[in-house]
Amino acid sequence: MASILDIDSISVRYGAIEALHKVSMKVSEGDIIALIGANGAGKSTLLKAIVNQVPLAEGSISFGGEVTGTSEKHRKSVPTHLLSKRGIALVPEGRHVFADMTVEENLDMGAFLVDDARLIARKKEEMFDFFPILGARKAQKTRSLSGGEQQMMAIARALMSSPRLLLLDEPGLGLAPLVVQDIFNKIAMINEQDKVTVFLVEQNARMALKASSSAYCLENGNIVLSGPSDELLVNDRVRAAYLGE
Ligand SMILES: Nc1ncnc2c1ncn2[C@@H]1O[C@H](COP(=O)(O)OP(=O)(O)OP(=O)(O)O)[C@@H](O)[C@H]1O
Ligand SMILES: [Mg+2]
Repeated sequence: MASILDIDSISVRYGAIEALHKVSMKVSEGDIIALIGANGAGKSTLLKAIVNQVPLAEGSISFGGEVTGTSEKHRKSVPTHLLSKRGIALVPEGRHVFADMTVEENLDMGAFLVDDARLIARKKEEMFDFFPILGARKAQKTRSLSGGEQQMMAIARALMSSPRLLLLDEPGLGLAPLVVQDIFNKIAMINEQDKVTVFLVEQNARMALKASSSAYCLENGNIVLSGPSDELLVNDRVRAAYLGE
């Protein structure tokens, strides 16, 4: 399969801190790829770099064969909202739902760049079918939803723009194991049925490796290992460092 996302030797700095150091990755179209790593490894920074929420100190990123982010000053990076139009959607860490808006209003926000009202209405019905719990609560203020329901809503909101690439930043964070399993099942369905490429960031390495076809391990801003997920699951270094075995 052709690669949909190409990350070419990018570095990101916050002042004196180098959060990413010459990171390169390729994501094949239709795959679920996982990025695992400890707190502070740079996982969220990498997702932010993909959607140009942080500037690149070096390197470049291409999506669908076109450069979308670069450190070169004479070539402008594509702004985040336009990347959404091109087919990249990010579900950020901590979900960032609009707590005082209803579920339905949150989904509308996910479609703010879609100007076809019928398409928006159809996408919302699709989301309410796919996440029945959201359909049952569509007029409810988001703050009253459980953590798992809010995570589902954040995913549904991202899907409103019909992305080709879905970036998920720790979708299981702070949720009970059964709820996490539910969310991972939905992610697998989104990938299989809608052919959405998924880039999954997770601290729960076991879940992430089981859910993905290939994976990368990030340590202190460096990719230290990568390969097919089933191989990483039995890799001694991964087992010691990430699986607690
Ligand atoms: N806005 C910022 N300003 C300064 N330093 C930052 C900023 N954001 C992140 N960092 C630093 O960059 C490094 C990577 O942070 P990042 O949030 O990408 O890690 P992470 O792997 O997502 O961690 P976690 O698992 O805790 O979410 C950390 O050392 C962090 O303190
Ligand atoms: Mg993070």
